Amino acid sequence: MRIPVIAGNWKMHKTVAEAVATVTELKRRLAGVTGVKVVVCPPFLAIKAVADALGGTAIGVGAQDCFWESFGAFTGEVSPEMIKEAGATYVIIGHSERRQYFHETNETVNKKVKKALAAGLTPIVCVGETLAEREAGQTERVVNDHVTKGLAGLNAHEVRRCIIAYEPVWAIGTGKTATPQQAQEVHAFIRQRLAQLWDSATAATVIIQYGGSVKPENIKELMAEPDIDGALVGGASLEAASFEKIVKYNGPMT
Ligand code: 13P
Repeated sequence: MRIPVIAGNWKMHKTVAEAVATVTELKRRLAGVTGVKVVVCPPFLAIKAVADALGGTAIGVGAQDCFWESFGAFTGEVSPEMIKEAGATYVIIGHSERRQYFHETNETVNKKVKKALAAGLTPIVCVGETLAEREAGQTERVVNDHVTKGLAGLNAHEVRRCIIAYEPVWAIGTGKTATPQQAQEVHAFIRQRLAQLWDSATAATVIIQYGGSVKPENIKELMAEPDIDGALVGGASLEAASFEKIVKYNGPMT
């Protein structure tokens, strides 16, 4: 039984004060919600304040990236241990924006995943094809590469601790969501590859989120698909009211 995980990726939005105000409202709106795990991923600087504000609630906190070393001369980088100490338990790794603008590769993603796991964080590993790749019939090849290389060298126990987020690049911030069928096809493919690379019990355990223009209007139909176990939400997670509607996609759950 996979418990859905709905995470908000705030990207480079919100000052510390704005982040605390948002989660204070979220805490009130989501009090008593059951059956779904909720996570918010603010910018690094707001992690500690957000984690403190959410103390005692079931809402988890995540970072949006991490480095693959614990400490050292790596100007500007933040280690998984530092993230954990600040109060986060999740970390997004290999988001397409990081692959596109900061030259992240499957190899750097793999190093980060390993280090995050070693530090006790839950990696949310992002995979997904661009529009050009989809149109060229390359979706499965690209997603397979992201999964195989991003998780290379992990044992089954470690893979079960990861969350995979399928985020087709063409659906991110465009208002163009993958149809539930399009998303389900790729989610099923990912689960099949996990079964082949590790084992079927591992494949059945891993949470696979969908991300890309998830909104209150489309979450319910996406979540109805058998292999969609949650969402990684960008724009619609910034406002507590719309994120609440996404989390409560099944109606009031209190
Ligand atoms: P949007 O929900 O704004 O399309 O962003 C998706 C995303 O990139 C989440 O990581």
